[in-house]
Amino acid sequence: MRPVYSKFFKIFLIAPMLITLGFVDGAAARDKNPCSKNPCMAKNPCASKGIPIRKNPIKDPARLKEMGEKLWGDTALGTSGTACGTCHPAGAGLKKEPFPKHIKMTGDIVTMDQMINFCMVNPMKGKPLAWNSQEMTALAAYITANSRESATPVNPCGMKNPCGAKNPCKMK
Ligand code: HEC
Repeated sequence: MRPVYSKFFKIFLIAPMLITLGFVDGAAARDKNPCSKNPCMAKNPCASKGIPIRKNPIKDPARLKEMGEKLWGDTALGTSGTACGTCHPAGAGLKKEPFPKHIKMTGDIVTMDQMINFCMVNPMKGKPLAWNSQEMTALAAYITANSRESATPVNPCGMKNPCGAKNPCKMK
């Protein structure tokens, strides 16, 4: 009877205890060592391809540049009859100082995309561009390529007012 008891004790009580202890210990060790669980393995969120920005990716920088230049002169982007290039001919008024920055006309600190959409809905009287649209990327590419190191703020509407009485740049 006795040896059976002892066997039972070893197998059913001590063994699970040791196993449990091993687990706890292992968990504690894992907590301390962030590399013990390889972050590059299957569950690594950076390793997977993830959700794409858009269904129609742009892969060719030359094509993007072309799109940006075309859109810059496109009066159909808005409804005010102006294009971005009407007030920003050859990129006039685009300053190199990086976004986010304070833009007087907005009375706010904005990112480049927010500024693009500010000009889309105000002077252009159009709809804001979707954050993941090709148009947004193309206009951003144009702006980045055509910004200049000019310290003096340029008001493109001041130079040659394209909008006459209805100058959208005058509005708040
Ligand atoms: C009717 C004139 C007008 C039109 C059209 C216009 N903008 Fe502007 N935009 C301005 C003015 C004025 C400023 C300067 C605001 C300031 O500095 O307070 C400006 C500023 C900007 C800036 C920030 C420049 C900088 O770095 O300081 C960006 C970017 C910009 N516009 C993009 C666009 C885009 C993109 C379009 C077309 C979708 C567009 N604008 C159409 C008048 C216009």
